[in-house]
Amino acid sequence: MLSTEDNEIMTRVGPGTPMGALLRRYWTPALLTSELPAPTGDPVRVRLLGEDLVAFRDATGRVGLIQENCPHRGASLWFGRNEAGPDGTCGLRCPYHGWQFDADGQCIDMPSEPPSSSFKDRVRARAYPTHESGGIVWTYMGPPETMTPFRDFGTESLAPDLQVAAKLKCYCNWVQTMEGNVDTAHISWLHGWFGAEDIEDDGSDKPGYPSNRQTWKFWAHDQAPRIEVHDTWYGFRYAGIRETPNGHTNVRITEYIFPYSTIIAAVPYNTGHLMVVPIDDHSCWRFTFEASEKPNPAGHGGAPLFSFGPFAWPSDRRPGGITPRNYLAEADYNIDREVQRTTTFSGVADFVSQDLMVTESMGPIYDRSQERLGTIDRAIIRMRQQLIRTAKTLAADPAAELPALPGPDHDFRTLRGADKILDEGEDWRMLGTDDDPAVQEAGAAIRDDGARDRQPAAGD
Ligand code: FES
Ligand SMILES: [Fe+2]
Repeated sequence: MLSTEDNEIMTRVGPGTPMGALLRRYWTPALLTSELPAPTGDPVRVRLLGEDLVAFRDATGRVGLIQENCPHRGASLWFGRNEAGPDGTCGLRCPYHGWQFDADGQCIDMPSEPPSSSFKDRVRARAYPTHESGGIVWTYMGPPETMTPFRDFGTESLAPDLQVAAKLKCYCNWVQTMEGNVDTAHISWLHGWFGAEDIEDDGSDKPGYPSNRQTWKFWAHDQAPRIEVHDTWYGFRYAGIRETPNGHTNVRITEYIFPYSTIIAAVPYNTGHLMVVPIDDHSCWRFTFEASEKPNPAGHGGAPLFSFGPFAWPSDRRPGGITPRNYLAEADYNIDREVQRTTTFSGVADFVSQDLMVTESMGPIYDRSQERLGTIDRAIIRMRQQLIRTAKTLAADPAAELPALPGPDHDFRTLRGADKILDEGEDWRMLGTDDDPAVQEAGAAIRDDGARDRQPAAGD
């Protein structure tokens, strides 16, 4: 349970709010590189942290991210012309009176004023710096004087053909989506299906890496996981600990990277980020991106989870960003009551729709003074504490030191989720770190590539 005041602090992200100020100190995904495929292509509307912006790739290939409303009299620059000038200048030209703005927001041409006027030199559109990495256009929306170097999660050295990024819109406050990402208990319920307990023992229910098929059985077998949280320099990692049918201990370890990224558990480990970016107070993007090459060269886990079971992934669901109408709240997420009675716990077709069903149905901003938390909510409580405490600290002292920013000892490429059955005496905190044998094995495989043949392996 949270006080109404803390709930407001945690959820509101617009300009001038404590959480808005905090989130603006971190480089954040704005849109996908694929949305701006070519120089002088069509501009794209971007709403981020409650601000309406427009993105465009200028004639030189640079991405500009500037205020949507023209500084002159407010027409939307989304309707503008993305022009290259004969003298080498380029930028977005307003459709109303022809004022042109470059990727830095500077007005570079004002043809409606007398040629002698220097007024254009004093007109700027609000503009944010951008950086492309891993298939995403990132931006920094905080004060220029506190801008940090880009946080490299591993994408900076990732070859273009290995970059995988996507986004999906969620119609609820960003913290509700985040809470689902640090809530491993719900996979035993929301994502469950009744046949999971009957999955045959394939021999991997023993210390070591279980098959992905077997992990589903573990979720069904132990539906009240113990949650342990371990604070780190970048936020925390937490374990969902379950007893397996053969009496062993399975741990699923998820990373929380302050303020809004998670790396969900996977066998043997995971380097794919799930980053929740507020569009405004009432909606958010789920950005997903891969931050490493060849995370699992030995093929631990076998076939991916989604290759079996009763869930149908709607082919029109991904990628693209906007959820088709029939998977939205207004269509009740296509819930099938007969399937819910007989086959799956939710009756909803795929994992993502299931997640949206529960997080969006709380309403745009849930009133957390109404909730009753249990032991399974430990990681959620920890995330909220870190967010609220830091937002308050920054509000009181704009020069306060913030967590999880780039620094000499901060290597964001070492962060990984993990999933394993523990050996006798094995500490889950080591799993997914650079000391994990599975991580070292993958590093050796990448080094063995020598010339680093960048072609994805068959089946990737
Ligand atoms: S409103 Fe944009 S140039 Fe006049
Ligand atoms: Fe989920």
